[in-house]
Amino acid sequence: MPHPVLLVLDADPSPRLGRLTGRVDVRYADASSLAGQLPAADVLLVWDTASDAVRKAWPGPGARPRWVHTAGTGVDRLLCPELIASDTVLTRARGLGERPVAEYAAGLVLAFAKDLPGTLELQRLRRWRPREGEEVAGSRAVVVGAGPVGREITRLLHGLGVTVALVGRTARRTLHGVADLDRLAARADWVIAAVPLTESTRSMFDRRFFGLLQPSARFVNVGHGATVVEADLVDALDRRWLAGAALDVFEDEPLDGRSPLWDVPGLLVSAHRSGNTVGRHDRLGEQFVAMYEQWAQGGPLPHVVDKRLGHVPSRDLPEGVAAP
Ligand SMILES: NC(=O)c1ccc[n+]([C@@H]2O[C@H](COP(=O)([O-])OP(=O)(O)OC[C@H]3O[C@@H](n4cnc5c(N)ncnc54)[C@H](OP(=O)(O)O)[C@@H]3O)[C@@H](O)[C@H]2O)c1
Repeated sequence: MPHPVLLVLDADPSPRLGRLTGRVDVRYADASSLAGQLPAADVLLVWDTASDAVRKAWPGPGARPRWVHTAGTGVDRLLCPELIASDTVLTRARGLGERPVAEYAAGLVLAFAKDLPGTLELQRLRRWRPREGEEVAGSRAVVVGAGPVGREITRLLHGLGVTVALVGRTARRTLHGVADLDRLAARADWVIAAVPLTESTRSMFDRRFFGLLQPSARFVNVGHGATVVEADLVDALDRRWLAGAALDVFEDEPLDGRSPLWDVPGLLVSAHRSGNTVGRHDRLGEQFVAMYEQWAQGGPLPHVVDKRLGHVPSRDLPEGVAAP
């Protein structure tokens, strides 16, 4: 019997497929060859998570893989009406990036409260200027997005003594719903965005939203760039509607060297790096191999995306993390 065909939309470094070697017919595609190779594939591994190639190639003629797995967390680049309507199961990487992203977000909260950027600048100028910092303990945060990333951020901020309100689409048990967001944001010291890009989250952080914030508040986005109207954020910072912001994700990535965002006072820019830690590619490969083995044995796949919602629906929070 021929081996199942695993098609990899490849990127550098390629995935290490370890135990699957010799048991699977592995083929590699790039954006230009994907459409021609899709009909022969049983499984598609989207390793190049920055590519729009799947959304473009999927609507063509011929059979389609029964399972698509992305080594990324967002699926907005993959989804097209034909994939949504098909029987193909879509899964995503999960359980690997949330801790580093949460550590980064908590690090930003501490960096803002202690004015780390100001300290670095004073050191550069060789200037001894004692200043007061803010206490993080006792401050209030709103974390928007109750997926694995938002939950881990909530846990870490709780550990720092921050009162956290966690917001999902709808209120239930320990979660607030997005209908509560304006009220919560208006009294928050920190707003941390960790939502996927969907029809309802695109541009949700706009001029109206920034106008609700306290002048002392800081806004952090580690979710998806297109959930923020970047020009509105820049304008709000300029008008001092909020005290600072940090963006790890952008509408257009990589951020152009000529983008005005690099120079906005009070805005901390990083290159979509918060989830990127040493060994991540190996862990993503291992996760896929483990999922493939489950699939090959006919077992149910974990981390299945609701293609109509555009994310993996979340469950209620585990014990110990309560939204106030
Ligand atoms: N910067 C990085 O390096 C990095 C690394 C990893 C992930 N990310 C990004 O972080 C984001 C979150 O990822 P994730 O894996 O934690 O979660 P996810 O599965 O992408 O998102 C699910 C969560 O978003 C909530 N949500 C959806 N629409 C919403 C809306 N309109 N208002 C409020 N909440 C809404 C869902 O609410 P319900 O609970 O009601 O379903 C659910 O809690 C994604 O954009 C991902 O790409 C970034």
